[in-house]
Amino acid sequence: MKFEGRTAFITGAAGRIGRALARELGKYGVKLYLADIDLPRVEKLCRDLKEEGIEARPVQLNVMDPEAIEEKTNAVLAEAGRVDILVNNAGKWPQGSILDTSDAQWVETIELNLTSVFRLSQAFIPSMRKKSYGRIVNLGSIAGEVGLPGFCAYAAAKGGVIMLTKTMAMELATCGITVNSVSPGMITDSKQPHNGTWLGHTGMGDDVARAIAFLASDDAGYITGVDLPVDGGRILGPKGLDWKPAKTF
Ligand SMILES: NC(=O)c1ccc[n+]([C@@H]2O[C@H](COP(=O)([O-])OP(=O)(O)OC[C@H]3O[C@@H](n4cnc5c(N)ncnc54)[C@H](O)[C@@H]3O)[C@@H](O)[C@H]2O)c1
Repeated sequence: MKFEGRTAFITGAAGRIGRALARELGKYGVKLYLADIDLPRVEKLCRDLKEEGIEARPVQLNVMDPEAIEEKTNAVLAEAGRVDILVNNAGKWPQGSILDTSDAQWVETIELNLTSVFRLSQAFIPSMRKKSYGRIVNLGSIAGEVGLPGFCAYAAAKGGVIMLTKTMAMELATCGITVNSVSPGMITDSKQPHNGTWLGHTGMGDDVARAIAFLASDDAGYITGVDLPVDGGRILGPKGLDWKPAKTF
């Protein structure tokens, strides 16, 4: 994959997908700003990466705090001069059906998973426009494509992320900025058997990181507005239910 002197800003970088993504982009020499609400974990990640020969700077950022977003993104732009790649990855999936989600939980889940994408994108797009180059990759979820009973606010937020992605892709198409989303299925720290996926197992951070990295690379310049599921085929059909296909391989 090609990344010509690029700088990336990743939110939720200390988590399982963020860590894998930092390593993947770091392999290609991308300059990294790794943002997370959890400063000790993101600092440790930067130290670990340094030992692996990857340079990364930690940024403490709560993506639900608009003032902090303004302050931290301005500081990064002042230091780096440019941010070419924004990966909106921070997120949480609190449980709650339509009947047992409180108003506060609804607002918080939308703010963390969806509004943060809107705010971070607004913060970086003007500088990307000046350079006529940008790659924005947002983390959706298969919950945002087909719904997820028991997680109504999360599914709604991720559905919103996918539609915001497509709309931004259209709005920014003439500015040299592509906007895509990646929608993971069940991602775990080690590969686990999983009946509900056609590939028969869960995915890992690396599986998602490679998909994000491709969409964030110079190579993906003619791809915009796409939502790419990384889910072992989970949303293809009713695997795991009693239904038996006529033929499988
Ligand atoms: N793991 C999965 O199975 C899965 C499936 C579908 C979608 N996703 C999406 O992928 C993304 C990453 O998931 P993950 O598995 O790496 O999760 P994770 O919980 O391992 O990591 C999430 C990171 O976000 C950080 N974070 C939480 N709140 C924050 C805030 N307010 N500001 C800044 N950072 C904050 C956490 O500290 C953590 O480091 C999320 O958007 C998630 O919704 C994950």
